[in-house]
Amino acid sequence: MAEFTLPANSKVGTGKTWTAPRDAARTRGFKVYRWNPDDGQNPRIDTYELDLDQCGPMVLDALIKIKNEVDPTLTFRRSCREGICGSCAMNIDGTNTLACLKPIEEVKGAVKIYPLPHMAVVKDLVPDLTQAYAQYRSIEPWLQADTPPPPDAERLQSKEERARLDGMWECILCFCCTTSCPSYWWNGDRYLGPAVLLAAYRWIADSRDERTGDRLDALEDPFKLYRCHTIMNCTQTCPKGLNPAKAIGKIKQLMIERQV
Ligand code: SF4
Ligand code: SF4
Ligand code: FES
Repeated sequence: MAEFTLPANSKVGTGKTWTAPRDAARTRGFKVYRWNPDDGQNPRIDTYELDLDQCGPMVLDALIKIKNEVDPTLTFRRSCREGICGSCAMNIDGTNTLACLKPIEEVKGAVKIYPLPHMAVVKDLVPDLTQAYAQYRSIEPWLQADTPPPPDAERLQSKEERARLDGMWECILCFCCTTSCPSYWWNGDRYLGPAVLLAAYRWIADSRDERTGDRLDALEDPFKLYRCHTIMNCTQTCPKGLNPAKAIGKIKQLMIERQV
């Protein structure tokens, strides 16, 4: 029987523990993945105990408190703290989500925090999104039309045409979906993944865009699109409640329709 083991330098060790202040009334532990590319050490899990009475309600509040008051070396991305920028995406309690939208109270026991899975790690909770952004660029996510716009107005849409973009324009490119997708784990170099395919469909579905045929041609590929096997992890994990699997299904449907 085949045995699978992690290479020695990938094994995750136990790190330091910072105990809560003695007068803490409501102590909660946060177990956080740490890895520093510059110190030559293996990754480790550090434990930070906080008094929840002295901390905001969201997991991001806890991370900010740790960084500001306990351990300034902890590294993570964040910006808007209200679910708009997508930068605080990470794996919390086993699920990819946004730290700023995840209430600490929703987690039972110690809060386990890891970077988004199956991505290279830049440091601690920061994943390397270089490939994902290059894939996003590859679908040319901007409006393309040869017809000039009206001289004195914007390109207009009917209410129905505009409504077709609902469920797609809200995507904040956090990549929680893409990094939860087993097909992307195994073929991420060639499969575009749910976030990028949702974005591709957003432009395919836009009544003002005139490159629908070219956009579909570019996706007609055994890997870019068809590695999606409708496992639905993406839709289940999206912190914005979007449905990338449905958008992928619609692209596949258009591929079939244009053959008949
Ligand atoms: S539905 Fe497709 S994109 Fe979504 S998780 Fe499954 S394989 Fe990945
Ligand atoms: S579809 Fe949802 S999970 Fe995926 S990138 Fe967009 S907002 Fe994030
Ligand atoms: S900090 Fe912007 S989405 Fe969480």
